[in-house]
Amino acid sequence: MEDFTYAISTRVYFGKGQIRNLGRNIKQYCDKILLVYGCGSIKANGVYDDVVNELNRSKVEFVELSGVKPNAKLPDVTEGVRLCRENNVAGVLGVGGGSVIDCAKVIAGCAAYEGDAWDLISAKARYTKILPIFTVLTLAASGSEMDALAVVTDMTRNDKLITGSNMMLPKVSICDPTYTFTVPPQHTAAGAVDIFSHICEPYFSADESAYVSDRIAEALLKSCIHYASLALSEPENYEARANLMWASSLAVNTLTAKGKNIGWSVHEIEHTVSAYYDITHGVGLAIITPVWMEYVLNETTLPRFVTYGLNVWNIDPKLEAMEIARTAIMKTREFFAALGMPGTLREAGIQEKTHFGEMAIKAFGPEGRTYSFMPLTVADVKNILEKSF
Ligand code: NZQ
Ligand code: ZN
Repeated sequence: MEDFTYAISTRVYFGKGQIRNLGRNIKQYCDKILLVYGCGSIKANGVYDDVVNELNRSKVEFVELSGVKPNAKLPDVTEGVRLCRENNVAGVLGVGGGSVIDCAKVIAGCAAYEGDAWDLISAKARYTKILPIFTVLTLAASGSEMDALAVVTDMTRNDKLITGSNMMLPKVSICDPTYTFTVPPQHTAAGAVDIFSHICEPYFSADESAYVSDRIAEALLKSCIHYASLALSEPENYEARANLMWASSLAVNTLTAKGKNIGWSVHEIEHTVSAYYDITHGVGLAIITPVWMEYVLNETTLPRFVTYGLNVWNIDPKLEAMEIARTAIMKTREFFAALGMPGTLREAGIQEKTHFGEMAIKAFGPEGRTYSFMPLTVADVKNILEKSF
């Protein structure tokens, strides 16, 4: 087991009515914030009213940035930075799913930077000062409410980049599962796939020594499998929404990656698809994950797939190892299909594959991914994209 540091400083208020803790916590850091939200869902479901009432009750002043689009886009970040400076705000509150929270995080990171925000996002410059970040989560998926990362897309460059800093960890996150009752089926399903993938990325590692991390990962994977379909059939089932919400936070706050030598693969490939075709992140993951699994399954990776098959999918241990692995991949694909996810990029609305060559280079750069579960060359990534089409 590798050495590690574990320090997640986000204070999470989890459960019904936790919004009441928002104002006094913001007040510990600042009196005036930028309130960032998306394209209308929080106004339709009452979350906006809860947030505004709480801010007013606590005498927190706010300026609003609304209309943040899925796959957090650079123009929304730029506009948020402008509003922060113009109004001299001292903190940023994101109310929404991963796109809104990521946008809020990057605004907070870029507000004090004099240069172009893309310098920071693309790691040409380093974050030195980040405004305190607060979140009210409305969709269980990204884990952004409890991690130090954000993902931003510049459609003009066809780049979707992961950026981050420990200073980007939210100070406070309000996680009220009832706020996710209104998430439509497609995003409930895509969110569950995203959580599942965040757990799979570090789980599929050749390193077998981090037993605790791997067993936690399996419990979280089983929780996704158990509760995703329940949340779809009963959108207001509190237990299902609550377990998905907590799984979302734990999946990507590095808990399951501790003590392991890891390298993510599927996420970077999916990000290139979103960067060119603006598809929903979880939809892309549902298509690419089983293809990647089939692609990297060989005699070397087999033991991990067997562990996955036995511990997550309860496959008969008397079967041959390769049969266990193949059955586990089939069950993964069936799980995503049962949630209503498309099985191919074409089914997800992508009609041509002219950019696959450029995308394969963008995923990990010209050297490919050298240090993951199975190293991937540019040609491998292109193959995976072709097989996903
Ligand atoms: O625009 P609004 O009105 O907010 O509507 C959203 C959006 O249309 C809607 N929605 C959210 N909460 C709702 C709701 N509709 C009804 N009721 C509610 N309670 O759902 C749609 C999708 O929202 P979005 O925020 O885009 O989804 P998600 O949470 O899946 O976030 C996706 C983004 O997160 C990034 C992804 O790449 C993508 O850009 N990720 C961020 C990560 C991180 N920060 O660590 C890691 C992830 O791997 C992921 O890459
Ligand atoms: Zn993800």
